Amino acid sequence: MRILVIGNGAREHALAYSLSRDSQVTEVHVSPGNAGMSAIANVHPEGDPVDLAREVDADLIVIGPEIPLVAGVADDLREAGFAVFGPSAQAAQIEGSKKFAKDVMERAGVKTARAEQVAVGASTEEIDAALAHFGPMYVVKDDGLAGGKGVVVTDSLDAAREHIEAVHAGGNPVLLESFLDGPEVSLFCLVDGETVVPLLPAQDHKRVGDNDEGPNTGGMGAYTPLPWLPEDGVQRIVDEVVQPVASQMVADGVPFNGLLYAGLAWGSEGPSVVEFNCRFGDPETQAVLEMLESPLGQALYATATGTLSELQALEWKDGYALTVVLAAEGYPEAPKTGAPITGAEAGSEAQGVRAAGVKAAEDGAGLVSSGGRVLNVVATGATLEEARDKAYEQLRKIEMPGGHYRSDIALPAVEGRITV
Ligand code: GLY
Repeated sequence: MRILVIGNGAREHALAYSLSRDSQVTEVHVSPGNAGMSAIANVHPEGDPVDLAREVDADLIVIGPEIPLVAGVADDLREAGFAVFGPSAQAAQIEGSKKFAKDVMERAGVKTARAEQVAVGASTEEIDAALAHFGPMYVVKDDGLAGGKGVVVTDSLDAAREHIEAVHAGGNPVLLESFLDGPEVSLFCLVDGETVVPLLPAQDHKRVGDNDEGPNTGGMGAYTPLPWLPEDGVQRIVDEVVQPVASQMVADGVPFNGLLYAGLAWGSEGPSVVEFNCRFGDPETQAVLEMLESPLGQALYATATGTLSELQALEWKDGYALTVVLAAEGYPEAPKTGAPITGAEAGSEAQGVRAAGVKAAEDGAGLVSSGGRVLNVVATGATLEEARDKAYEQLRKIEMPGGHYRSDIALPAVEGRITV
């Protein structure tokens, strides 16, 4: 099987690496990829995905990021006759429009935050009237694609107003939501219309600094599974959230095919939806795929071809996986690029390296940073503590001037400070 992966981050590196280890996968192609992936995949420059799929004679195309999905790249590829892992533009609205997601959830009877949209052009009085329905914790979301960075959670009315103005200035409406308390869970599910197959539950760390301080980012580290989640937690999320939404989308004539990512808060009454995404999450994917024993290519192909119900139950390693993001100086506000990286290069997958914002150094020797989240290191262990120790040990071997990472990924879980 020849597989083309679309995307260029550490999530796509993790997907490409797992696919390259599936015995039925003969070739892995990535576009645009990055220089850190070149040892395990054929890296192609960005181009028309349909042309590239034809050129490499792809049996399956896996679309990583939400932007091409919302833009309809999966539709174009399906129309051209390819098997595609990724939803149609219409179904990708589950992430692309928070209002669409709220409407589906409401009709499916799924618990989520109360929400109100504030349209572009709303007056100061209208904004204040909407804010008065919420708080004292304000959750202000960019009701468009913001790569995980469009959410501000604040107890300050001024900060909430400021974010509304910033989102409106960018041309998007705002969604105000009630604050959901409780630890966050990311559950990724393979979905081919009606059939839902959950992967392991994970937890992301979205703020840039230790102890959840500083601004939101695309994600600074993650671990899986969650030792604090009730034993029936995954089944409850499937039964109460993902299956009803998948079935509702089928009933609405907008079936979802691909990876449905439920972002949840686990409160006193169980799971409530914070948001849905229409693709694998980053960085959770780097940890989740590290635990997968079953061949990934076959699972994604079964999803793409609507035969997920016939797929053998997925098998997982025992223990835990943990990933930490190495970010560039200035990330997330103003990342500086061009920093030389030592201790990680193309071919460092076995050392846990999954590359994101990197490019080849001009003199051809090694990698330099080219984005905010530069790379991840992932490690597994019999215990979460062991996975943590191993990931940080590997990360300490990598040097990049100005680079920073959180030192407390999974620490609250290891120390038993998360209770539900
Ligand atoms: N883990 C956050 C995201 O993928 O959006």
